[in-house]
This record gives sequence, structure tokens and C-alpha cells, in this order.
Amino acid sequence: MNKPDKGTTTKVTAMTLLGMKGRERVSMVTAYDATFARLAEEAGVDALLVGDSLGMVIQGHENTLSVTLEDMIYHTKAVRRGSARAHVVGDMPFMSYQPSPEVALTNAGRLVKEGGAEAVKLEGGVEYEDAIGRIVRAGIPVMGHVGLTPQSVHAMGGFKVQGRSPEAARRVLDDAKAVEAAGAYAIVLEGVPVELSRVITAHLSIPTIGIGAGAACDGQVLVMYDLLGMSGAFRPRFVKAYADLGREVVDALGAYAREVKDGSFPADEHTFHAKVALFGPRGSDSDATSNSALDRDRDRDRDRQEHRGGRGHHDDDDPTPLYGVPV
Ligand code: KIV
Repeated sequence: MNKPDKGTTTKVTAMTLLGMKGRERVSMVTAYDATFARLAEEAGVDALLVGDSLGMVIQGHENTLSVTLEDMIYHTKAVRRGSARAHVVGDMPFMSYQPSPEVALTNAGRLVKEGGAEAVKLEGGVEYEDAIGRIVRAGIPVMGHVGLTPQSVHAMGGFKVQGRSPEAARRVLDDAKAVEAAGAYAIVLEGVPVELSRVITAHLSIPTIGIGAGAACDGQVLVMYDLLGMSGAFRPRFVKAYADLGREVVDALGAYAREVKDGSFPADEHTFHAKVALFGPRGSDSDATSNSALDRDRDRDRDRQEHRGGRGHHDDDDPTPLYGVPV
């Protein structure tokens, strides 16, 4: 069901993204499962970020701090199963790299080895140069992330735009330069003024991928559920919802619930029928479930279906197997 279309176009790698600097903008979106990974890949997105934002949009927490490395490995594996061409980046969760470069390397290795990530992303600048360098020297591509770094939500006093004063802008620029100097192949710029992201993008030779950082970056990333309009009423200024899937999902589920209540789902076309007699003859002690009882149910379903102008009957000679259920 979630099998990607393998081998139709060229695999996007860390080197591909690096080579896109100044040539072609990078499109990246978060993905947390195989289905959305497959759909994003089919849509032609370059890179899938298995972001620790999953702590908020999948797990329902108010920030990303409680996400574990096990969570990240689990979701990265799912995304890898759903994609073949897109570049898959696994986010390093809070406290999986902060303690030391050795801890960072061990955990980055697990994301690659167990999760199948093709690169890892970590938040922070100057203070994580050693950690980034250690991971890169082990052969794992690192994507940096500076500006608004959600894992520092408490230190920042909330999810606030960073780099708004000349001093603060200087600090973010220094962070970005440190990340590049440590060997990162790309960097996320989150929640910074476009005047700052423009300068950073011009200074660096690696692609900058913005979220809430304006159009001056070398690429953009959005959280999948925000982009699809599934995140509820609150929509931050930097988000553009390209669909209203939240509404569509509610409408579809409402229709389903109503049809279950009024008995119109499942209709005969969604129903399997036995091809041979399953129970004893009429009048036997199993009469309650005899063929005649089953036939009566079937006739009633057909009548209802015709009454509603239904879409016809299931073709018993051409059954479609679903989820491994024999029909
Ligand atoms: O976790 C995440 O989804 C991210 C993006 C918002 C860049 O880090």
C-alpha cells in the first residue's frame, strides 16, 4: 500500500542538495509516516524531514522536548519505507546530542543505522560545532538548524522570532557560520527576519532552508500538517495552508458516522457473500443463521441499495483482496 515507485527518477542525496545552492530552490516538508512520505515523494518534494515536531503534531505535546530517540527511529523507518527518491533527514531529539560529541555521534549513528536516515539534523550553532564535526567525520551528513530552535523553547521564553536586534542578528549569523565551518551540508533557518536570512544565505556556501525566514533562503520547509491545513484554528503567520484537509477529514468522518448510524454503510457493494451454503437446511436447529436468514438479509440490503440509487453490486467473480483478507 505504501510502496514507493522505486527507480523512476534520480535519488536525492545530501550532495544533491548541496549542489542545488544558487541553482534550484530546495523543497522540504516534514513527514512522519509511510503514507505521507509516499504522497510527498509522488508530488516531487526533494527532501523529507522526520522532524521532532512530531512531538506536537503526532503526539499532541505542547513542545518537542519529550520526544525520544526511539520515537525518531520508529518514524524515520516508516518514512524510509514510504519513499525511495526523496532525501530523508532524521531529526535528533532533545538531549540526544547536547551532552557531548560522543553521545551525539552514537545517537546520530542509531538514527542512520536503525532508522535508515540519510542525514541527521540538530539544533544550535557555535556551541555544537564539535558535535557536528564529530558526526560529519564519521561519514554522516549533518543539517544544521539556527535561529528559532524549538528545543530551547524555555531559554527563548517561548517560540519567538530570533535575530531582531543587530546583536541578536550577529549571534545567529555566527551560529550559521559555525555550523557551516563544522561541515554541515545544509542549514535550516527558522523564525528570523528576511533581512537576516538574506545575509546568511549570501555568506554561506551551503543551502539555507527557511521556515518563517522569508523568501531569501535557498529552500523552504514546512510542517506537513500545517501545509495541508490540518493544524486547527491557530495558523502562524509564516504558514501557508495549500489545502483545507482538516475540514475535508471532518466532513468525511461525519458522513461515515452518519451512515453507520442509519445503517446505509456498509452497502451490498461493500459486503462479501458466501458462494456455497454455509449452514444447515431450512428448519434445522441452526435456522436463525440459516441460508434463508442470510438470503433475507441480502435481499433487504439490495432493496435498500436500489432505493437509494446505489452504485451497483460487488462483483463476486472479480473480488479485490484488501489487507490480506481472502474474498
Ligand atoms: O521538527 C521540525 O519539524 C523542524 C522543522 C520545523 C524545521 O525542525
